[in-house]
Amino acid sequence: MSKKPWDGRFVDSTDRTVEAFTSSVAFDKRLYRYDINGSTAHCRMLARQSIISEDEASQIVEGLHRIALDIKKGRFEPDEAMEDIHMNIERRLVQEVGKVAQKLHTARSRNDQVALDVRMYLRDEVRGILGALTALRRSLVEFAERHIDVIMPGYTHLQRAQPVLFSHHLMAYYEMFTRDRARFKEALGRINVMPLGSAALAGTTYPIDMAYTAELLDFPEVCANSLDAVGSRDFIIEFLAAAGICMVHLSRLSEELILWSSREFAFVEIPDAFATGSSIMPQKKNPDVAELVRGKSGRVFGNLTAMLTVMKGLPLTYNRDMQEDKEPLFDTVDTLKGCLEVYERLVPRLKMNRQAMENAAVEGFLNATDMADYLVSKGMAFREAHHCVGEAVRYAMDQNKELHELSLNELGKFSNLFAEDVFDLLTPKQMVDRRISAGGTATDNVVRAIEKAKETISAEVAEIKANEE
Ligand code: ARG
Repeated sequence: MSKKPWDGRFVDSTDRTVEAFTSSVAFDKRLYRYDINGSTAHCRMLARQSIISEDEASQIVEGLHRIALDIKKGRFEPDEAMEDIHMNIERRLVQEVGKVAQKLHTARSRNDQVALDVRMYLRDEVRGILGALTALRRSLVEFAERHIDVIMPGYTHLQRAQPVLFSHHLMAYYEMFTRDRARFKEALGRINVMPLGSAALAGTTYPIDMAYTAELLDFPEVCANSLDAVGSRDFIIEFLAAAGICMVHLSRLSEELILWSSREFAFVEIPDAFATGSSIMPQKKNPDVAELVRGKSGRVFGNLTAMLTVMKGLPLTYNRDMQEDKEPLFDTVDTLKGCLEVYERLVPRLKMNRQAMENAAVEGFLNATDMADYLVSKGMAFREAHHCVGEAVRYAMDQNKELHELSLNELGKFSNLFAEDVFDLLTPKQMVDRRISAGGTATDNVVRAIEKAKETISAEVAEIKANEE
């Protein structure tokens, strides 16, 4: 049983089950860099405020620096008995620089320390995710541009509805992922607030300068309320919710790729590099990547539910329950990053079967609305036109024909407004290009949407580069 930094008031030692049970170091060790950077800034602030001496601060900072290096080089394995990464580093610091190490924890507690570390970790990860969403959206937009003339059936209820550009369909995902990115960016503003100095819960009696700590750690803001600073995790919940919504979008895209790559649709072939075979059926090529992305959405939703449940009903402020925030958070970060990365690389390599898509767009009366619109343009009321074309559809089905395969004579049975010019409107190309309403599938619209998206993405790339410098 190892000696604990907090054991002054304890008589009996920790039960053998409790160390392992309460320990979080197995997973929170991934916070070590943030813990060391946070401690370094705290130490500098303490010296600047003459709470410790400059000489003491230098010794501590050097010691922390050496520990960071040791961890990086794999020369320091944290000890489970020391609860968490924060206490592991503190104990190691004592070994490195001696008694002066014990001054580091002046004017702070692990409650504000862990809040700081997680905020620093998460803001880094969110910045990475913003980049990943830019990259994925660029893949989608470039693919849409390359396939601008491909027409496919648009669906409602998974029934063929009206023809659309395949690019228009892809650009719908672009829009979803654009909103996802905006959500993460919004969340980042609330993550990027500095809690250190809130101490256990009430603040501290030392003359600290939290604004200076914030400046050293590149935080634009300091937490306004110490109780809130140590007792809130909605910045994590908000991230998990944004991740959940993003996984919904990835999962829907996955479902479409799975359907489209089936023999029944045959719209797309998943490239070999992103598919797997069957151990028994030699002919099989399975869309496992898409299936796994769809499946992984489950754990991401679960992580959100887990965190909502952990926080619900907790009295202010810090409670040990909150240590349970880390595994769901880390798991969601890893899962989302993996999904975004794999799709950014998969999308450009999809092999589209344009013929199959176009064939599907001319079969199944997808031009019925356009035929009704034609009658409306000749003066008929829409409801009447709808009924009239409905009868024509039934007739055509009986004849085993499509609407555009009926003769003018046959159409005349349903309305005398039909003339030869109706047939021009019934081709998929015409049906697409006449849908010029804002956001409609007309080629001109989609080309413009792609141009605009490319500008947006260039601006994001420039912003990311500027931030890196
Ligand atoms: N490992 C703890 C956590 O993740 C750190 C904070 C511990 N604070 C405490 N009062 N026990 O929440």
